[in-house]
Amino acid sequence: MTQSFFRMPSPTDSHAGPNASWLNGATIYQIYPLSFRDRGGDGWGDLDGVLEGLDHVASLGVDGVWISPFYPSPWKDFGYDVADHRAVDPRMGNLAVFDRLVERAHALGLKVLVDLVCGHSSDAHPWFRESRRSRDNERADWYVWADPKPDGTAPNNWLSVFGGAAWNWEPRRRQYYLHHFLASQPALNLHAPAVMDALCETAAFWMERGVDGFRIDAVDFFAHDPQLRSNPAVVWREAEPPLKPFALQQHVYDMMHPAVGSILARLRETVERYPGRVLLGELSSQPGAGQRIAAYCTPQGLHAAYTLSLAKQPFSAKGFAQALTAAPRPESICWSLSNHDVERAASRWLPEGADPAAFNALLAVLVATLPGTVCLYQGEELGLPNAALEQHQLRDPFGITYWPEFPGRDGSRTPMPWRADEPNAGFSAGEPWLPVPAEHAALAVDRQERTVGSPLSVWRAALALRHGSEVLRTGGVAAVEEHGDLLSFERTLGDERLLAIFNLADRPAEYALRGRGEPLPLAVPRAPGAAVPEVTADGRTLVMPPLSVFLGSLRPNP
Ligand code: BGC
Repeated sequence: MTQSFFRMPSPTDSHAGPNASWLNGATIYQIYPLSFRDRGGDGWGDLDGVLEGLDHVASLGVDGVWISPFYPSPWKDFGYDVADHRAVDPRMGNLAVFDRLVERAHALGLKVLVDLVCGHSSDAHPWFRESRRSRDNERADWYVWADPKPDGTAPNNWLSVFGGAAWNWEPRRRQYYLHHFLASQPALNLHAPAVMDALCETAAFWMERGVDGFRIDAVDFFAHDPQLRSNPAVVWREAEPPLKPFALQQHVYDMMHPAVGSILARLRETVERYPGRVLLGELSSQPGAGQRIAAYCTPQGLHAAYTLSLAKQPFSAKGFAQALTAAPRPESICWSLSNHDVERAASRWLPEGADPAAFNALLAVLVATLPGTVCLYQGEELGLPNAALEQHQLRDPFGITYWPEFPGRDGSRTPMPWRADEPNAGFSAGEPWLPVPAEHAALAVDRQERTVGSPLSVWRAALALRHGSEVLRTGGVAAVEEHGDLLSFERTLGDERLLAIFNLADRPAEYALRGRGEPLPLAVPRAPGAAVPEVTADGRTLVMPPLSVFLGSLRPNP
């Protein structure tokens, strides 16, 4: 059976535009420091642990690290509730360790990105402590305050992502404050010039210490409708309401306000003062994420951005083809297929009954051939599946609220397994804050280092393929096509054209070569014993085994 292809509108295949930076083509390893490595022995990862694990990170052939929050925090949202933007939580270490970490990373050739959480702080932050005291203190307008409606209820119908209303009452001010996440994460008022000044000074503080840029948290929540209008309801056609009531609103007023652009411009101006520094944004998975990537990634905004929309969809050629074509310039897209906010891709997308090793190799080569930036989440290089936790083991308030229908994010946040035979797989000498599953210990770094064809070795080979190929790193993307289980695209640079074809399903498929001529196959990393795609005797069809990849060089376009 041959297929007829539906050709997707193709983005430009020209090369990097005026907003391109070193992020284009780079692979950034995301370190979730609480779970990376614990040197202090208290069961919580720390910066000394990060420092110690950097050799492993460098050995993967990545270009940099993004370190999730390590700032002073009550840890209610595990560091995304910042109580001091310019310090290190004592549980994590101190600024001297951070400086050593940056120095060591740079010596290893790794750039360092840190999180800049601008949209909200912890309620323990001195800024909020002051703001909530009265309506006329110096920081009275640093957060989003609003009077109650005449009947005492909240100013509008906005909801928190994590459940419940987005408003909380402050008795001293007789006002509500806005929070898009936990009630202990009040939203900062980014329209107040003094707040933006403070955040830009924070960015400068970390750049002075040598960081190469920022992962900008929750960009879509930076600005809202100044009139505080209520969101309209979505037309919900299912018999039962959705699990999370947040899904019942069209988020047209509480987030994604056009003022986000001018806020990003202030941040961009700040990083522009330090050569080579970059902004990598996190966008929500609300509809239109591709258009927002295009709108925010400009020389006045972010360098690149990721959204979890793709990760929240089923694994499909169509999903990838749409993500590839939605953003107009490939260098704007960042791929974060796994991270601390979603179930790990190795289990989320594993087709039923499929061989995890074959699926791991497919993901590794797919990631290595995609344009733009890639974020690789700690443990992804080990092929770790998501951890299944019991209710009593949960830490994430999001999961605690929605258990058992949605177990939250702890399953992707359990500790890194370093040494299979040590307690807690070598993560910590103490009781870890989240358990280390036995199946993760069996996939520990030391064991994989000794195993030929391990997931780790496949990732190293895939990243070396990307690193060693200019066309894969910075080339354009063209001819994005999807048909059924097959995804294909070309990467182009000058006269060079590479054709990449992926069979995303655990069953064979056929790809019609259609006048493309026979591409010259290139070696790609595969799982041990995996079957290789083959061209039929008449040269017209490529037979793609289950979960396989074909990478071939094409003749230049006439
Ligand atoms: C972070 C989450 C966090 C949320 C609220 C997100 O973008 O990645 O982990 O819960 O922001 O701070």
